[in-house]
Amino acid sequence: MFVSEKLKKPPGMLLLMSGSIACAKASSLISEWSRRGHAVRVVCTRSVAEFVGPATLQGLGAEMVLDNVFAEGQAMEHINLARWADIIVAAPATSNLINKLASGIADDAVTTVWQAAYGRDKPMLLVPAMNTRMWRYPATRESVHRLQQWGIHVLPVGKGELACGEHGEGRMLEPADILQTVDRLLAFDRPGSGRRVLITGGGTRESIDSVRYIGNLSSGRTASKLADELAAAGHVVTWLGADDAVQPVLPELLESFYSFKDLEQQLRTLLRKRHYDVVIHAAAVSDFHVSSVEGEKGDLVAGQQGKLCSGTGLLLRLGPNPKLLRRLKSWSLNPAVRVVGFKLTHTEDQQQRIAAVRDQFENAGVDVVVHNDLFEIDPGRHPFSVFTPALEPISCDDGSALARTLNRVMETV
Ligand SMILES: Cc1cc2nc3c(=O)[nH]c(=O)nc-3n(C[C@H](O)[C@H](O)[C@H](O)COP(=O)(O)O)c2cc1C
Repeated sequence: MFVSEKLKKPPGMLLLMSGSIACAKASSLISEWSRRGHAVRVVCTRSVAEFVGPATLQGLGAEMVLDNVFAEGQAMEHINLARWADIIVAAPATSNLINKLASGIADDAVTTVWQAAYGRDKPMLLVPAMNTRMWRYPATRESVHRLQQWGIHVLPVGKGELACGEHGEGRMLEPADILQTVDRLLAFDRPGSGRRVLITGGGTRESIDSVRYIGNLSSGRTASKLADELAAAGHVVTWLGADDAVQPVLPELLESFYSFKDLEQQLRTLLRKRHYDVVIHAAAVSDFHVSSVEGEKGDLVAGQQGKLCSGTGLLLRLGPNPKLLRRLKSWSLNPAVRVVGFKLTHTEDQQQRIAAVRDQFENAGVDVVVHNDLFEIDPGRHPFSVFTPALEPISCDDGSALARTLNRVMETV
């Protein structure tokens, strides 16, 4: 894990807990953080005691547990804790807590500490846990959206068997996922004022008929990592990903696409309507679409709707798709938008690689190129080189290093 130079000792973790069956699961965060050497302090709503007692939380490693702002001798503890913490994690966050936080209510220890911590340029994370209907309740949807607009990170909920016996979405994410997100949030120097970043990822699919398509092997994993890490770094991120791509969890807005045409349409709409400072175009966009399907004798097979009959050979005619990268700036509401393009080559000749990167700068209107080469990628390795127009490469060993490099480079191009 990359730890910011600013943070000399392990960051202080402030865990806010509210009354859910997931309290037991969230308690394991305390022992894991303590094991790693973090100081952990816990603030609880009154109902937490129905699920897990303060003695248990202390036994797991919490150096203090506060559940009452008026407790004797702790009159200013809500402010002290807000100052002390390096990160504030509300887990589990009940529907009651989420709706209170979004309405500005501060009537107990958790909600008071939360408000006192807001605006101190510290990451604040909510980890919801609730029944599906409570999660879908309009007020909860609006509150989540509202809190995200205010720069709060809200983790998604998991799907599956719920404590109430129902099946659906609402489960609190597993502690391992929460720990990973917290590590990411702590891994960056937070620049204070975030940039608005649009990231595309995953591969487009071009339909042959209603059930078959031509696709590519892009999983969207790198782009998804970039989206989460740049959001964790304090930028306001929009994710525009293939509907089967690895999904990030931290962006403010999540949109999806299926085909080239969808992606083109979505990019145009987002760029025209919203102000973006940077577009990181990492999607693997098909260079072709299926323009016609012919039978063995060259006869045109009806339409691309429905299911083509099997048993005979078919000839697919592919038409070229235009390059989206070149058009991004022309669609952008912000004329000063910066564009990061990706270039994958397949050559061991360094000069040819550089020529491909130069071509992107000269012909695609990009400001930064992320290059990688098939010869250097294997299951255990995925290095990248980041180029600015000076064509001096910055090597990055993996997606996390790439995120940190882009975070820095975005400040200078
Ligand atoms: C057994 C049990 C489990 C509960 N689990 C949840 C839950 O997971 N999420 C939730 O939003 N509320 C849950 N509730 C309801 C909350 O505890 C209740 O709304 C409470 O007022 C929340 O208060 P707090 O947000 O101040 O902790 C549960 C209640 C009970 C009795």
